[in-house]
Amino acid sequence: MLQDTTVARSARVHDWLLGGVENYAPDRAAGAALVEVVPGVRQLARSGRAFLRHAVGLLAGSGVAQFLDLGCGLPVLDGNVHEVAQAARPGTRVVYVDVDPVVLAHAFTTLDDNADTLIVGGDIRRPGAIREAIGGFFDWGRPVAVLMASVLDCLPADGADDPDGPEGVVRDWAALLPPGSPVVIQQMVCADAGVRAAVTAVMTGATGGRWGRMAAPGDLGRYAAPLHIKAPGLGDVTRRHPDSPAAPGPLCPSGTAAWGVVS
Ligand SMILES: C[S@@+](CC[C@H](N)C(=O)[O-])C[C@H]1O[C@@H](n2cnc3c(N)ncnc32)[C@H](O)[C@@H]1O
Repeated sequence: MLQDTTVARSARVHDWLLGGVENYAPDRAAGAALVEVVPGVRQLARSGRAFLRHAVGLLAGSGVAQFLDLGCGLPVLDGNVHEVAQAARPGTRVVYVDVDPVVLAHAFTTLDDNADTLIVGGDIRRPGAIREAIGGFFDWGRPVAVLMASVLDCLPADGADDPDGPEGVVRDWAALLPPGSPVVIQQMVCADAGVRAAVTAVMTGATGGRWGRMAAPGDLGRYAAPLHIKAPGLGDVTRRHPDSPAAPGPLCPSGTAAWGVVS
């Protein structure tokens, strides 16, 4: 499909950070600018995916049979959600949701022959519409694991009272899910306000304003507040998962890390 390659898109920047090839010059320029601000950002992106794979494998292995990947991004080479979930539990149903038509086109090609996956074009700020589009593909009487990996920072609005901000979106999804549904949140955070402002400026500038803002660790705590969090709780994913790449340590300006949580 024809796509606008003159402006960066978060999915393609993330693809470049992960070492993928579905990206163009503006995406690579944005990625390189991110590396200038946070030299360990590519390791953090890989750590985030490792955490996601780990969480999905554990949840599928423990019997969760339905996964909803919100802001799924472009396919990756080292384990897409349906591959990990269906390897752990054959027949697991996975719904991929994204707002970017290019992501959706790639997903259709990749998932063409997988009857237990569904692709939904939609905005994660509209949970009701996404649920309606999924319809009977999920059994809404049983738990649905919801994945929000590197997507909440894409939402431009913020603030506890803003239903379209990350906090409101997590709250709305948590209220809509069947009882016992786990939620997985993962994203890059930074304790340093200057670094957060620089990352936000790079991404909003490169995407023509289609991005939100980099969160502080405390913001992620607020987002996760409505959830019943499982041990080991909210924190740095590179320190707790055996398959995460080594922590970037000195490559990251103070307090920059990939954080995650599973409820
Ligand atoms: C950085 S990528 C993350 C991809 C994947 N979740 C991962 O962790 O590897 C963010 C994705 O979220 C999508 N996205 C951003 N805002 C969205 C929204 N409001 N609704 C649905 N998808 C959104 C983007 O199009 C992009 O594909």
